[in-house]
Amino acid sequence: MFELLRRDGLARICKLDTPHGILETPALLPVINPRNITVPLNELYDDLGFKAIITNSYIIRNNPELKEQALSTGLHEMLGYKGVIMTDSGTFQSHMYGEVDVKNDDIVSFQRDIGSDIGTVLDIFTEPDWSEARTSEAVDVTLARTEEAARLKGDMLLAGVVQGSIFPELRERCARSLASIDADVHPIGGVVPLMEQYRFDDLVDVIVASKKGLNPSRPVHLFGAGHPMVFALAALLGCDMFDSASYAKFARDGRFMFPEGTSSLSDMKVISCHCPACNGHSYEDIVAMRPAERIALIARHNLWVSQEEVQRVKRAILEGDLWELVERRCRGHPALLDALRRLGDHEEFLELTEPLSRDNSLFYTGPETLRRPAIRRYARRFFERYEYPDTEVMIVFDETSKPYGRCRQQEMRDVLAECDSHFFVESVLGPVPIELDEMYPIAQSVLPERRDKEAVEGVKEMMERMSHEHPYAIAVGWDGPQTLDTLSLMCVNKPSFDVDLARVKAVADMQFGRGAGGALLDGRVELKKSENTGKIRNVLVNGEHVLSMRANDGFFTLKIAGAERLRKAFPAPRLRVRVKDDSVPFNREGKNVFCTFVEDCDPEIRPMDEVLVVDSSDELVAIGRAVLTRDEMGAFRTGVAVKVRDGNKK
Ligand code: GUN
Ligand code: ZN
Repeated sequence: MFELLRRDGLARICKLDTPHGILETPALLPVINPRNITVPLNELYDDLGFKAIITNSYIIRNNPELKEQALSTGLHEMLGYKGVIMTDSGTFQSHMYGEVDVKNDDIVSFQRDIGSDIGTVLDIFTEPDWSEARTSEAVDVTLARTEEAARLKGDMLLAGVVQGSIFPELRERCARSLASIDADVHPIGGVVPLMEQYRFDDLVDVIVASKKGLNPSRPVHLFGAGHPMVFALAALLGCDMFDSASYAKFARDGRFMFPEGTSSLSDMKVISCHCPACNGHSYEDIVAMRPAERIALIARHNLWVSQEEVQRVKRAILEGDLWELVERRCRGHPALLDALRRLGDHEEFLELTEPLSRDNSLFYTGPETLRRPAIRRYARRFFERYEYPDTEVMIVFDETSKPYGRCRQQEMRDVLAECDSHFFVESVLGPVPIELDEMYPIAQSVLPERRDKEAVEGVKEMMERMSHEHPYAIAVGWDGPQTLDTLSLMCVNKPSFDVDLARVKAVADMQFGRGAGGALLDGRVELKKSENTGKIRNVLVNGEHVLSMRANDGFFTLKIAGAERLRKAFPAPRLRVRVKDDSVPFNREGKNVFCTFVEDCDPEIRPMDEVLVVDSSDELVAIGRAVLTRDEMGAFRTGVAVKVRDGNKK
């Protein structure tokens, strides 16, 4: 069983149930060569915190002594390791060294018989320079072998590998076919050559194509990804597990791994690291060591640094700054910068799991930031969902500090004393109507004052687009008090713009869809504000509490009365999670909706969205926040789908 605990986009913290306990992901599995153990396994488990390792069943099976021992005592006892052991099948070795004296059914049964927790199919390693036809045949063979392996796996979890090389259609087809086979973990295979050649942009395409086809409720392992430079990027794309033989290989070559890149001992002048392995050793000490001692030190360093990066990624998922971390890491090498830029091409796919908002501020780290799904979504929703207020004039302000409305309070007051105006800010995130200035990511983004060329061009394009769509008779850029003089000569209408009402309507439309504001506010509207901040807190209509505005992200939480209005205004399945009958009484009592009880839901629901929990006749049962998307709710067999805030008691 694989359960999602926390998520940020495709990145997630999960727990995987295995015969030797629960493995929390993201997790890095050090590769162990049973004939040559660089770091003792109890040290790996106890000191370095590696609760899972991966070893090669093929090596064990080919060594009569190891084979005999593994079969009689079991793998865990043989290795003296109490954590989770995953085994590989020998695909990579047979591919690299041409030793092909192994059959799929034999090696899968062998892995099962020696007590491997996660055993791997004998997949066919697809090389990046193969033709599409050859790759496609290899995918078919891999799929047939995975079906065979699923029949043989017993209590072992089965790793069914996605192959398909750099052909996105083949990757997706392979992944989709694997989703209907009884496998438990999905490594993405055939990517070692891409990583060795620093083709990280192709790696991005491969992971995305694979993720598109895979069942989202199964963990994804990136085979052979052992450099801490790529963990954040791979996790952002939804990889849950990694394995590293590199820590030992790099150590043999005198290479220290860091999240920013690799440093060779021969090029280094000092040791700047204070990990437990390096601590207390000078550069000269390490150079003077016997080779075996030096290799062991560097291997330990590589493991410490890798583990620290995995933990940093986990923290980023919890705290909401994974995008910032990825953008920083991808500046460690130009090839990773290409990968970051390639992410921008997958914005549509990434948007599907992009949360409504995050707790952390959005930091602009460079023009690539402009292609983040949070920012693209703002602009898209603005052009699709926003309704302009009916004023005579539009004034456009330059970007200032935030929130814009507070910063421009005096100017707006002066203008509204003279004419019927509405206000925009020309932001690099897109045109911002003044009433959206507290909404994520507008108020929560931190931008440099000096704009780069991409930002300037982006703003120009979006303002140009808006100029064709807006209904105002007069549109002017604010140029200080003289703007006011010009305006007073041109305008005729009396001021009508009410920023508070406009805020409620615009945020509702942006959050729930065009028309939501109208439906929610139909009647006598009363706004309750915070005495401390002056910000809107509660929205009452005809005396009923319909919405509360959140201070942190400027979006609404729904109240039952508000949800009823939305249910009447929007036909099913919009905004809804429909639950099975036996779930209804619990949700009416305010209990969460679990995945197994979801009948269906709106495909437009994104993580953290406010949703309507309804029964089979579309009656409102509860309101809450979605944790998962539609595909995920349908796939996971355990865990919460909607965190219910309020039940609609009968
Ligand atoms: N190790 C590194 N890449 C691969 C792969 O594609 N398949 C298997 N089974 N193991 C690997
Ligand atoms: Zn170190």
